[in-house]
Amino acid sequence: MRHAFWGAMFLLAGCDGVQSALYPAGTGSDRIAELFYWMTGGAVLIWLAVVALGSYCLRATPPMERRRAAILVIGGGVIFPTVVLTALLIYGLAMLPGLLQPAPEGSLRIAVIGEQWWWRVRYFPPDGEPFDLANEIHLPVGQPVQFELHSADVIHSFWIPSLGGKVDMIPGRTNTLRFSAARAGRYRGQCAEYCGASHALMCLYAVVHEPEDYNRWAERQALAASKSTEPAAARGEELFLTHGCGACHTVRGSAAGGLIGPDLTHVGSRLSLAAGILPNEPETFLRWISRAEAIKPGSHMPSFSILPTDDLNAIAAWLDGLQ
Ligand code: CUA
Repeated sequence: MRHAFWGAMFLLAGCDGVQSALYPAGTGSDRIAELFYWMTGGAVLIWLAVVALGSYCLRATPPMERRRAAILVIGGGVIFPTVVLTALLIYGLAMLPGLLQPAPEGSLRIAVIGEQWWWRVRYFPPDGEPFDLANEIHLPVGQPVQFELHSADVIHSFWIPSLGGKVDMIPGRTNTLRFSAARAGRYRGQCAEYCGASHALMCLYAVVHEPEDYNRWAERQALAASKSTEPAAARGEELFLTHGCGACHTVRGSAAGGLIGPDLTHVGSRLSLAAGILPNEPETFLRWISRAEAIKPGSHMPSFSILPTDDLNAIAAWLDGLQ
């Protein structure tokens, strides 16, 4: 009994939090949670009916009257499940048109591109220039957002369970998803299609703001990085460029303009490093730069383990300061 109780508590604990389809905070996920509860209700109903029929049959003394047996088999085995399943199917299909409709003209548009193993994120604000970031999405509460989902290499799947449905990202194709976030907060997403060695290490954060906070965030992200006056950070910028990091990464406002890896213009302001798997701290920058291949097997980011600790510290100081 005690085990069952703790088992139930453990399962229920997973329903509350930053990454749960049963703790909806968006217009897509609340429909999905609703559908889940109706489906579960339907399944419980059928299960109870089958158990009742089974125990009735076990107790009945043969031979059973022919007519009664036919009613039990046809009624309980064919008609009842057909009615329940058809009702659930119609209910589920009726939800689709609302979920598939594109966001109204003039809504915020965000392209997310799945890469092995991180997320390239491009914002198209209705009144402003597009800008890039990585592994993080910020949204204004209560406004419909149109997502365009692509892949740069293999099939990935975009899923922020608390906010919306799961949609595959397929090379050579654009899939769309629309939802609006209902509650401000911080949520977590995870690639939901096996995409190679580090599939489980491909996460992202979604932060839902009040509209004014969102506007402030978006204005800041659209700006280029400001020059650091701190000597360690200035040296870090120089080292970043001389060691060739700029061949893969862009930092707007510096000479780094590479397009292969994540845009790092405001990397210091992000919640995590390496696509949701490391906390964003100077020490983890250092770990990531020197041991990327050990932390994320198969990653295209080379490990710069030959760099002296002083150089790594300076680069980390510069990146951390890119707020
Ligand atoms: Cu990307 Cu799994």
